[in-house]
Amino acid sequence: MPRTVSDIVQMKSKEKITVITGYDSTMATLCDSVDVILVGDSAGMVMLGYDDTRDVTMDDMIRFTTAVKNAKTDSLIVTDLPINSYENEDSAVTNSKKLVQAGAHAVKLEGGKEVSNIIRAVVDSGIPVMGHLGLLPQTAEKYSVQAKKSEDALDLIQDTKILEESGVFSIVLEMVTSDVTEIITKSVKIPTIGIGSGISCDGQVLVVHDMLGMFEKIKPKFAKRYLNLSEEIRNAVNSYVKDVKEKRFPEKEHTFSMEKDELEKLEKEIG
Ligand code: KIV
Repeated sequence: MPRTVSDIVQMKSKEKITVITGYDSTMATLCDSVDVILVGDSAGMVMLGYDDTRDVTMDDMIRFTTAVKNAKTDSLIVTDLPINSYENEDSAVTNSKKLVQAGAHAVKLEGGKEVSNIIRAVVDSGIPVMGHLGLLPQTAEKYSVQAKKSEDALDLIQDTKILEESGVFSIVLEMVTSDVTEIITKSVKIPTIGIGSGISCDGQVLVVHDMLGMFEKIKPKFAKRYLNLSEEIRNAVNSYVKDVKEKRFPEKEHTFSMEKDELEKLEKEIG
């Protein structure tokens, strides 16, 4: 059965929520056991080769969302509103509608109290919103652990409450100290989804290229690598290159041939 936003909300405190990023149809199909596919703007780094997420456009996110939707899995699809696509209520609603048209069931946007009116406008337009607090890659000057000091933790706890009141159905907490994550998770009714924020969150999200060991530029401490695919891919490509250079590929099993009489006919025709 396809997951709904309400299914995800009801999983809080009952069953951990699994989220993986996805940007293309093949990977979304392979990840079909997760509850949520997040079409994250991390696509800018892992798919488009940018240094961060700030060059990602609406057109990019529409294309990635369409690809994930085409996988037709049961996972809920949540797509990031890219930077500069939610500067005011109108642009946020217009762009959220475009992402929903492309196949998203919900959108995610970064920020605390300063985006509460924007969240409310998108929710009022009928589109569910996932919040994103802690490290905010669209605006962060550097990637560092959040809420290490009690005053920062208090701000974050306050932002979480404001986002809940604004109508988000869940909140991503990125690189937040696990003590604060535990406090936040206990203090809100909506699920928290952690990335680098400890075990207490109601769910976990990882960038698929990180967890499969495919992305070599940055290796965050929190991103558990379940595979070392980059090594496997390199070995496979090297074997292919060697086979072609040494004329060992393609073999008979990879080759199509004409029927003998058709070949003879052709040979006669061309002399
Ligand atoms: O873009 C993304 O992949 C994200 C996750 C890191 C939560 O926002």
